[in-house]
Amino acid sequence: MSQASGDLAIQLSDLRQEAQQAIASTTSLDDLEQLRIRYLGKKGSLSQVLGAMGKVDAAERPRIGSLANEVKEVIQGELEQKKSGLQAAAIEARLAAEAIDVTMPGTFRPQGHAHPLTSTIDRALDIFVGLGYTVAQGPEMETDYYNFEALNTPADHPARDMQDTFYLPDGNLLRTHTSSVQIRYMENNEPPIRVAAPGRVYRRDTVDATHAAVFHQIEILAIDEGLTFTDLRGTIKIFLESMFGDIEVRFRPSFFPFTEPSAEVDVKWRGRWLEVLGCGMVDPNVLKSVGYDPEIYTGFAAGFGVERFAMVLHQIDDIRRLYASDLRFLRQF
Ligand code: DAH
Repeated sequence: MSQASGDLAIQLSDLRQEAQQAIASTTSLDDLEQLRIRYLGKKGSLSQVLGAMGKVDAAERPRIGSLANEVKEVIQGELEQKKSGLQAAAIEARLAAEAIDVTMPGTFRPQGHAHPLTSTIDRALDIFVGLGYTVAQGPEMETDYYNFEALNTPADHPARDMQDTFYLPDGNLLRTHTSSVQIRYMENNEPPIRVAAPGRVYRRDTVDATHAAVFHQIEILAIDEGLTFTDLRGTIKIFLESMFGDIEVRFRPSFFPFTEPSAEVDVKWRGRWLEVLGCGMVDPNVLKSVGYDPEIYTGFAAGFGVERFAMVLHQIDDIRRLYASDLRFLRQF
């Protein structure tokens, strides 16, 4: 063996040992790649050692060549093995870090829900939609015509009094009831009509446990040929039973300018009669005001107080609670 080939053989075996140790003590894939470049890269240690091949006797070259190949293969094999080991460890570490403990208590996310007035309106409208009614709305700022005049309410009617109605500086007013929607709807539609109109209404009332200056009504109106008081009574009874279940209902004769005959309806609540709605057969003058022929068409109408309904449904004793935005109260519904 010549001097040169002996040196190379030693260098190759040193290289192999050094590489094996370095690979064994590597802990990251990046470092491992650096080692690959350092030992097997184009300008790496192995290439450098083999650069001295020229000095080796031709007869010795195949032996040194195969030794070099063997070293290369060994280093390559160790690099591969280490690589898959590190990759597996990385996956394990990630799995461990991302593990979910399904027994941990969840985070509480507060969830809102409909205000009791909204849910009362929704519930009432659902019942009327089930009976074939359409839902309509009208403006809260009204003219004297829609709120009073077209509803057969004469100029000297007490409802027009400054004590009851909020008049606006421009001569308009805040509607005192949803009955104004009756007129607006009839003006734009032909009979037969079945409509339910929910909305906010305004009165100059002194606020107490059962009165508010702003409250909600639902108006219903049915116009057709041959409708009678019996249809009105049946509709109201079915509605109240669907709304409240088994509850005592009483019809009382009453007066409204826009209905004839008229009635008020009470429900028995906490041992006392509580008025929840006004109703009646649409006055022929109202039909005339929208151009319907009262000789052909008849109809009935009713107006419900939504707050009263909510109070009965949820056993609320003071209407003011509905507007106080007190979450301790509202969360109960
Ligand atoms: N508008 C009346 C009120 O606010 C309620 C009412 C009574 C509406 C009789 C009607 C009705 O449609 O027919 O007190």
